[in-house]
Amino acid sequence: MDIHAFSALLPQANEQLPRGAFLTAGGDVWNPMTIGWAQFGVVWARPVVTVMVRKSRYTYSLMENTDVFTVSFPRAKEMAKELAFCGARSGRDVNKEKEAKLSRLAPRSGGAEAVAGCGIVMECRIVQKQLLDLSTLDPEFREKYYGGNLSLPDGDPHMLYVGEVLAAYEL
Ligand SMILES: Cc1cc2nc3c(=O)[nH]c(=O)nc-3n(C[C@H](O)[C@H](O)[C@H](O)COP(=O)(O)O)c2cc1C
Repeated sequence: MDIHAFSALLPQANEQLPRGAFLTAGGDVWNPMTIGWAQFGVVWARPVVTVMVRKSRYTYSLMENTDVFTVSFPRAKEMAKELAFCGARSGRDVNKEKEAKLSRLAPRSGGAEAVAGCGIVMECRIVQKQLLDLSTLDPEFREKYYGGNLSLPDGDPHMLYVGEVLAAYEL
């Protein structure tokens, strides 16, 4: 993937990200999860996207069983209901594809299936992953984002998945 073509999509992707994007993992189960945090950049001379998935998410188990993921960004002010649903309900309990009336878009370059109707798609191959080390995190951030989280005894840290961008495009 050409770094300049990837960079050209970033202003729009960064604008949408705080409102939410859909993360889908490769594999047999298609379960879009809303994400609000990601990093975009260049590492190992490749364009990369890093996503952060808490260990308690159903999506974590899907990410652990695949080499690829895709991030789909809705256009500004679109798909707000779908983002809210996929950010509040777990694929353990509901079929999000059916309940949120989402449909899949075939990948162009070997990533996971994207969410149809979005404006930007980034297909990625996982090249590194790392569990967030809470002991080295700024104490204020640790308290704010992990301290009160009792869903797992270890604070439910995020797993960081670094994905090499296989393809990124506007629809
Ligand atoms: C705007 C928004 C952003 C979110 N960002 C993340 C994120 O970056 N990482 C994460 O693990 N969960 C994030 N969540 C929470 C998950 O989307 C939520 O827990 C979801 O129900 C998990 O689905 P799953 O169990 O099917 O994987 C976010 C939720 C919202 C509403």
